[in-house]
Amino acid sequence: MAGAAMLSGCSHGPQTSTHPLPGIDVTGKASLREHAANARLLFGFAVNTAQLRSNRSYRAIVEQQASIIVPENAMKWRALRPSMDRYDFEDADSLLTFAEKNRIKLRGHNLCWHQSLPDWFAASANAADAHRLLVDHIRTVAGRYAGRMHSWDVVNEAINTRDGRADGLRNSPWLRLVGTDYIEIAFRSAREADPAALLTYNEYGLESASPDGAEKRAATLQMLRRLKQRNVPVDAIGIQSHLHAPSTQGAGPELLRFMASCREMGLEIFLSEMDVSDRDLSAAIDTRDRVVAEDYRGFLNTALQERRVTAVLTWGVDDASTSLNAEQPRKDRLAQRPLLFDSRYQAKPSFASVRDAFDARLGAAPARAAAPSTFRLPRL
Ligand code: XIL
Repeated sequence: MAGAAMLSGCSHGPQTSTHPLPGIDVTGKASLREHAANARLLFGFAVNTAQLRSNRSYRAIVEQQASIIVPENAMKWRALRPSMDRYDFEDADSLLTFAEKNRIKLRGHNLCWHQSLPDWFAASANAADAHRLLVDHIRTVAGRYAGRMHSWDVVNEAINTRDGRADGLRNSPWLRLVGTDYIEIAFRSAREADPAALLTYNEYGLESASPDGAEKRAATLQMLRRLKQRNVPVDAIGIQSHLHAPSTQGAGPELLRFMASCREMGLEIFLSEMDVSDRDLSAAIDTRDRVVAEDYRGFLNTALQERRVTAVLTWGVDDASTSLNAEQPRKDRLAQRPLLFDSRYQAKPSFASVRDAFDARLGAAPARAAAPSTFRLPRL
């Protein structure tokens, strides 16, 4: 458990002496966690365990800004299952220790997905043992952290209407090996293992105004309604919210209708993986930062009208830790700038957008006097 010792040993409370944001007060009452709390929201990041352990500036931002975190990779099958019969909980344990020490809630991500499966899975899993493999994994992992998690992404990205099935389900290894019941099996196993965590269905593309987005919303609602009819324990939906700048036509009214349907089913709603890809914007940093900030503001001003939204997380802390450069590289090879902090841990215009969208939320308490006046945007 060296990892746990290192993470918790190095953590310091809100009175941290290292200040990673010279000249810009985004701490204390001016932090996103405080602005979020005023709007009855949790705010946080997907975090990288190695960075959290080794990088003081990165860790200080997480401690200052986050009331909830989610491991970017540390709780996925690939990280937890080095072999079929062995679990490695070192990073996952250390993250929970860090979160509890700093009174930050932890979301688990994820228990069942078609990606990030270990290499042995394709070679060894088969129709005879996949059901048992899935249930054992969920019992072991969700059971280990029972009572200490805010929520679990139990099933991730199960809908892909392009696969052509009438029910819209993705043709995933789990579907092929276990059958269409795999989603129900996963949720029931998770509830048994951890009755306290909010059990979440997490999906991308739900926020998109494209025809694909409309199909995905319809198929997702159909799946969720069917699960609810069968008393399957689903508590929340994660709308990933990976945006692409410039979002000239966000799915405003359709997204709000979708969220209202989720609320009517009794679901809580998380904006679970926000970032704004600038792949299609020109190179100038000022322009990119401005357009990305506008997209954060526009999207959140719409999505936060829905009162069942209770948490907003970005997928990464700072621009150096985004996975978008690997997944959606820019043609000019410049690094993407999709997050709220730049790679030197300076707050960007998008930070102000998110803060202001929290403040604007219907019913939010008025912003504390000091916050807006002490914040100065860098390089504008
Ligand atoms: C991504 C991570 O950011 C990468 O580091 C990893 O290589 C692949 O997975 N939707 C999800 C996340 O639910 O788990 C994905 O995370 C990003 C898209």
